[in-house]
Amino acid sequence: MNIAILASGNGSNFEAIVKAAKRGYIKAFIKVLITDKSNAYVRQRAKRNKIKDILIDPSKFKSRLEFDEEVIKVLEKEKIDLVVLAGFMRILSAKFVKRFKNRILNIHPALLPAFKGENAIRRALQHNCKVTGVTVHFVDEKVDNGPIILQQAIEIKRGETLERLEERIHNLEHKLYPLAVKLFTERRIKIKNRNVEIEPL
Ligand code: GAR
Repeated sequence: MNIAILASGNGSNFEAIVKAAKRGYIKAFIKVLITDKSNAYVRQRAKRNKIKDILIDPSKFKSRLEFDEEVIKVLEKEKIDLVVLAGFMRILSAKFVKRFKNRILNIHPALLPAFKGENAIRRALQHNCKVTGVTVHFVDEKVDNGPIILQQAIEIKRGETLERLEERIHNLEHKLYPLAVKLFTERRIKIKNRNVEIEPL
């Protein structure tokens, strides 16, 4: 199975998945990183790990759809079976989602459907939630909305700082996302409408 990872920023999830593939936990080929930001740190991680890095600059396209069509072209050329969004800060067009239906994963740093969108960790803390967590889900046409694959909660400690909570959320992401990719590549995820069933490892 060929995997493309799409990311716009730091890329710690990208690296967690790449490492998991390197040590054989995920048995698939991480073929390409696609990014929309020329200065994204994730590109350095790709270089260090010898993963092909393709920059698609949104300013070169007239519309979101045209940008997405270019991404689809690359994914088809690379014969990609699974698209993994890892901090890719763009909303995908309906055409993209349809083309890779139930083959696009996303990770979100909250227990969806709570705290969709940006700054989810901060908003959960500011809301004085007692728990928050991480969600991995299939991508549909709406933001942070598709069928949920894995979720794990963590308790927010009394007086916890944003930095500490972010660190704990990211550590959890780095376990949950490689697991979700592994489950997908081993064809253990069955989806019917919004209902996702997982055959245990
Ligand atoms: C992750 O925390 C991910 O959950 C979040 O962006 C971060 C990327 O970190 N994604 C979203 O908020 C999507 N709505 P990374 O670049 O270090 O992997």
